[in-house]
Amino acid sequence: MGIMINTSVLNADLANLAAEVAKIPSSDGVHLDVADNHFVPNLTFGLPVVESLRKHVALPMDIHLMISNVDSWAVSYAEIGCESVTFHVEASNAPIRLARQLRAAGAKAAMALKPATSIEPYAELLPELDMILLMTVEPGFGGQAFLDLCLPKIRRTRELAKARGIEIAIQVDGGINEETIARAADAGADTFVAGSSVFSAANPDQMLQSLRALVP
Ligand code: DX5
Ligand code: ZN
Repeated sequence: MGIMINTSVLNADLANLAAEVAKIPSSDGVHLDVADNHFVPNLTFGLPVVESLRKHVALPMDIHLMISNVDSWAVSYAEIGCESVTFHVEASNAPIRLARQLRAAGAKAAMALKPATSIEPYAELLPELDMILLMTVEPGFGGQAFLDLCLPKIRRTRELAKARGIEIAIQVDGGINEETIARAADAGADTFVAGSSVFSAANPDQMLQSLRALVP
């Protein structure tokens, strides 16, 4: 299975989202960071904006919900046609129920862990999920430096899945650039979120191709 690179628009021009997405046709998906100024100290956009953008974007939409009260909100993103919906385990009161609801609504179900959250307590949840998102920065803002201390957890997550015979996507998000992507891939990640490294490049789509070439 090849790798996937989804582009985060958090550090793009948020007043021109459709035009920004048009700059990244090589992306495997658009990563949309919903932040509520409660779960994380940043406020971005929510369901109405994502629903409007849906009409302008053909690429798969990968929703990263950095919000409290996620059990109430997540399924709506699946219902408006977002292909993948990620909730934080730290914010969900009922992650198994939520993952099942997302799948029932036709989306891929994904669960995110902040850098300090261990994967081991959630090993039995892996069959309920299509993807695990391992944050490689503290969630909330683009442009932060990749935390190498997350690499052992990426490895352990891949091992836990293999030991159970589960094929699951492992997504890394935060600080992915030409210097870090190979380390994350070597540890076992196969799905990458890249934000500022892509949108700060003179040619964003060319940067996506450069990043892809760095993962064997
Ligand atoms: C951070 C967000 C990321 C962020 C990635 O909390 O979840 O998706 O936009 O941006 P970069 O690639 O700049 O770290
Ligand atoms: Zn994100």
